[in-house]
Amino acid sequence: MRTVDQHRTPLFTGLVEHARRNPIQFHIPGHKKGAGMAPEFREFIGERALSIDLINIAPLDDLHNPHGIIREAQAMAAEAFGADHSYFSVQGTSGAITTMIMTVCGPGDKILVPRNVHKSVLTGIVLSGALPIFMNPDLDYDLGIAHGVSLEVVRHTLDQHPDAKGVLVINPTYYGVAADLKGIVELAHARGVPVLVDEAHGVHLCFHEGLPLSAMQAGADMAATSVHKLGGSLTQTSILNVREGFINPGRVQAILSMLTTTSTSYLLLASLDAARKQLATRGRELIDRAIRLAERARRQIDAIPGLHCLGAEAIGHSSSRFDFDPTKLCINVKELGVTGVEIELLLREEFNIEVELSDLYNVLCIISLGDTEEDIDALVEALRTIAGRFYRQRPANVVKVKVPVTPILAMHPRTAFYAETEVVPLREAEGRVIAESIMVYPPGIPILLPGEIVAQENLDYLDECIQAGLPVQGTEDPELKMVKVVRNTR
Ligand SMILES: Cc1ncc(COP(=O)(O)O)c(C=O)c1O
Repeated sequence: MRTVDQHRTPLFTGLVEHARRNPIQFHIPGHKKGAGMAPEFREFIGERALSIDLINIAPLDDLHNPHGIIREAQAMAAEAFGADHSYFSVQGTSGAITTMIMTVCGPGDKILVPRNVHKSVLTGIVLSGALPIFMNPDLDYDLGIAHGVSLEVVRHTLDQHPDAKGVLVINPTYYGVAADLKGIVELAHARGVPVLVDEAHGVHLCFHEGLPLSAMQAGADMAATSVHKLGGSLTQTSILNVREGFINPGRVQAILSMLTTTSTSYLLLASLDAARKQLATRGRELIDRAIRLAERARRQIDAIPGLHCLGAEAIGHSSSRFDFDPTKLCINVKELGVTGVEIELLLREEFNIEVELSDLYNVLCIISLGDTEEDIDALVEALRTIAGRFYRQRPANVVKVKVPVTPILAMHPRTAFYAETEVVPLREAEGRVIAESIMVYPPGIPILLPGEIVAQENLDYLDECIQAGLPVQGTEDPELKMVKVVRNTR
């Protein structure tokens, strides 16, 4: 039950009141309410926004040691999300994920993670010195994507590694599929292991009963939640939710602080405060509308020959495909005989429509608090036109979900990252221990991570991704022709 009035916005209101008093400022930012800024930028962004582009002067509290309006705003967020503590992040969910891992792991500690983790998990692993124990996600051979990890995989991996310091899972995946998180939490807690959740795509979950359980509702210990992705705050803003018991909140604050700029943007922080208010007071109504829009779009797209959307019918049959967020519109285009990447390009170039991501077989559209019926109609019409052009003109794409076997980890990622290295042509890297990571981003699936032995299958898979135009990245060489490997390993 709520005990505080979630209509209040202590941080946003405090900031606006401070700006209204219009103090003479002898502190940074040096643009001084926009006066010292390039005029074209000032005029574009507007003086009101610039008047609250402030930093941690005494009346405005300090994210690194909150005791005033930031503390109050974070406490209200904790209540809204059902957490014991909430921490605002201006380093996105990436910073919050790194913090979660560093909170529970020190050098050499084991952490269980799905293979299809976001790159920030690797950052946390390298910085903490943790040893990742990979759990294979459930592969969808129909859609060519990875879902969550099953209860059986978590149980088996915990059996093998009872000394693990944490289990990290994704809830829900980029494509909106949630595993049985409550089951995973019960399993891990019974063995004294905390559960950390990458909730980058799940900020809205706890505000609508028709969505999968949020991390806090499922009893997880920490959750890194992108408010900016689906919750209505400015880009870069996230919340780290924490439940007491397994986790020491003081350590969370200390680590988050280590990883955060001392010049935190109050524009960003205030947007988090306002987004929390909106979610807590009107979230259900707004999310309900987004769900209805997405379901309408799904029905209309499913009626277009050659297209099919991932929907509730594919869910509920296993612990890795346990529940589903209908606001994620994963449109499978394999029947058209073109790749999702090609469809993304056509939508951009011919219809001025930008999607969230595409892969070999799918295009992902995110429906959120800000969409309208007109937007949905434009998407459906564009897809109808494109599908009409290709359907039955080319043979359908056969989905060969080829995720190469997880490479063998020859040394701790941190050791490889800091090792003496040499640069070799990627084609000649087979058998070498890689010292950097290679991933497809978005969605951020790692193909190789520091410390792993490069196998021919990995090189072949990389070739396929590059040829399909997927965004492969991670190496220092932006063209991915050369790769850094640990020196003298063979
Ligand atoms: C699954 C997942 N986790 C974490 C992140 C990182 O979130 P942020 O961009 O807020 O740092 C992303 C970003 O796309 C993601 O897809």
